Amino acid sequence: MKRYFIHTFGCQMNVYDSLRMGELLLAMGYGPTPVAEEADLILLNTCSIREKAEDKLLSALGRYRLIKHARGAWIGIGGCIAQQEKEKLLKKAPFVDFVFGTDAVRKLPHILEALERGGQPVVEVAWEEAEPYTFLEASGETSRGKACEFITIMKGCDNLCAYCVVPHTRGREISRPYADILAQAQTLLGVGIKELTLLGQNVNSFAGGISFAELLLEVAKLPGLERLRFTTSHPQDLSPALIEAFKVEHKIAPHIHLPVQSGSDAILKRMRRNYTVAEYMERLSQLRAARPDIAVTTDVIVGFPGETEADFERTLALTAEARFDGQFSFIFSARPKTLAALKEDEWGRVPHEAKAERLKRLQALQKQVSAAHFQSQVGQVAEVLVEGASKQNPGRLHGKTPQNRTVNFEGEAQVGELIKVHILRASSSALFGQRLGTPACE
Ligand code: SAH
Ligand code: SF4
Ligand code: F3S
Repeated sequence: MKRYFIHTFGCQMNVYDSLRMGELLLAMGYGPTPVAEEADLILLNTCSIREKAEDKLLSALGRYRLIKHARGAWIGIGGCIAQQEKEKLLKKAPFVDFVFGTDAVRKLPHILEALERGGQPVVEVAWEEAEPYTFLEASGETSRGKACEFITIMKGCDNLCAYCVVPHTRGREISRPYADILAQAQTLLGVGIKELTLLGQNVNSFAGGISFAELLLEVAKLPGLERLRFTTSHPQDLSPALIEAFKVEHKIAPHIHLPVQSGSDAILKRMRRNYTVAEYMERLSQLRAARPDIAVTTDVIVGFPGETEADFERTLALTAEARFDGQFSFIFSARPKTLAALKEDEWGRVPHEAKAERLKRLQALQKQVSAAHFQSQVGQVAEVLVEGASKQNPGRLHGKTPQNRTVNFEGEAQVGELIKVHILRASSSALFGQRLGTPACE
């Protein structure tokens, strides 16, 4: 049997697509291997959100090239860098056998057949123009034995945030029809999944026949579902109906990832985010009023072109005021074809040392805020959905609280079980505890 190995970079949408690639390959008679050195087919599902993501591809390719030479494995590059670079990738890495874009996942069997016939390197990067767009269905087979699963409910993004490459790598926004989403959710719940996360780059602008809030309420009603999550939301599309859904439907887990990007209105305007800091804070307080236990996480970019020390201090002030549960912060990276890359010199390039120093200050502040949130859980009893063995703590299990906080714990439990854990300790990113009713082993 031929074996495949998939290396996934980037966001959960890529994770979802990689699972679909695996299912297409299984249907072709391939089997998975966790060891690249044993694979006959190596796929790289790439991300181009920041320059660092691209560097990761190049270093991984160096390793896979050796495997290709040792055993003649085929190498295919998919995902966002494939979509962006197209045939140029074959020039940069001539040993690559095929390049397939973000809309070409379902063409994989086709591509492999062409290679088997002894064809030239293949490049498939056309956008899928046909209506309706074909969203790849999960068969459910690769989800057995898991507690949590994703469903992509839309593709692409129609916003043009000045820094962001995604509209260029994923194309225009297309929503999956809601009836298909409900059917997909039922398939996954049918194989034992307990928590679903609805995915989209701009998930709350969903328009697949009903509103996003209505979709959440429909999915939440499905038998077998314990928790419903979604990501990523854009603050501009956070509707009163969505806030209300958090209030009335408690299967919608009390967590929202709501990227703010900057605490300065001038920078937000230049980023083309379509909200002010005051509007963002207003929506945050409405969410917290509707669901007092909600955890809010965010993304921030530092060193965006033209960001002054005063602008950055506004981001610090916002971070202190908003009291996010967690914050992912990034140094601005100029991406091909984006407005911010084009205007970087005109708006004012922030020197690398200043960017690095700002990132450090911001992360130090957020660490304190996160630590206080996590520390406040010590002594409490949390409801945990068990996901499996803990990676950081051998011999322990891990799961998540409704607020999406990771809990490592002692005690026996099954994957997919909802249990009560007594929280004993906390760091700034995880909780540690003991399943209620189990004797301490320390
Ligand atoms: N669709 C999501 C974000 C996707 S990218 C949204 O709209 O919020 C994830 C995060 O990467 C972004 O929120 C942003 O903080 C960061 N990011 C995107 N492009 C970037 C760039 N060019 N440089 C640095 N960080 C970037
Ligand atoms: Fe990128 Fe903005 Fe679209 Fe998010 S909303 S994917 S940041 S363009
Ligand atoms: Fe990266 Fe593409 Fe996702 S650029 S973040 S893999 S949509």
